[in-house]
Amino acid sequence: MTYASSDLRNEHEGILFGLMILEKMIMLIRSGKKVEKEELLEMLNFLKLFADKCHHGKEEGLFFPAMERVGIKNKNGPIGQMLMEHEQGRKYIKGIGLALEADPVDMSSFIENAEKYIELLRNHIDKENTVLFPMGDKLLGKEIQEELLEKFEVFEEEVMGEGTHEKLHEMLHKFEKKYLKA
Ligand SMILES: [Fe+2]
Ligand SMILES: [Fe+2]
Repeated sequence: MTYASSDLRNEHEGILFGLMILEKMIMLIRSGKKVEKEELLEMLNFLKLFADKCHHGKEEGLFFPAMERVGIKNKNGPIGQMLMEHEQGRKYIKGIGLALEADPVDMSSFIENAEKYIELLRNHIDKENTVLFPMGDKLLGKEIQEELLEKFEVFEEEVMGEGTHEKLHEMLHKFEKKYLKA
């Protein structure tokens, strides 16, 4: 059986990969090298669309509600904690956006928000992968798993639009060559 969490785990890999590139960009900026603002904006767009709108959207709109229906607690429970972390992430994303919009770009605020975001998301993903998703794999029945996977697909098409995922992957690939393999 394919678990609904498998799709979310795959997206986690994509997000972690993006964070690795972002981390490298920060390292270069810290060492005095120039990273084009345009590319920082592209990374921001990736985090907004892929990590937040698509991935967190699927969790908040579909996966977590299914978990709640089988008894996992939201308020004062693991789901509430995850939702709080999504919110915190949105604050850092907003901070990154404001720093890049400033004229001239506020690099120290960019770095501060981006580093906090990276740390938050890595911990968050680790918790979901090791605690929350195994719970879901155990508690959600086969039919619900399949239904969730179908709904994920529809959600992706409706929220992201056709071809958006592919474009974002292309961007990661382009940055991989430039920042991780150079
Ligand atoms: Fe999450
Ligand atoms: Fe997640």
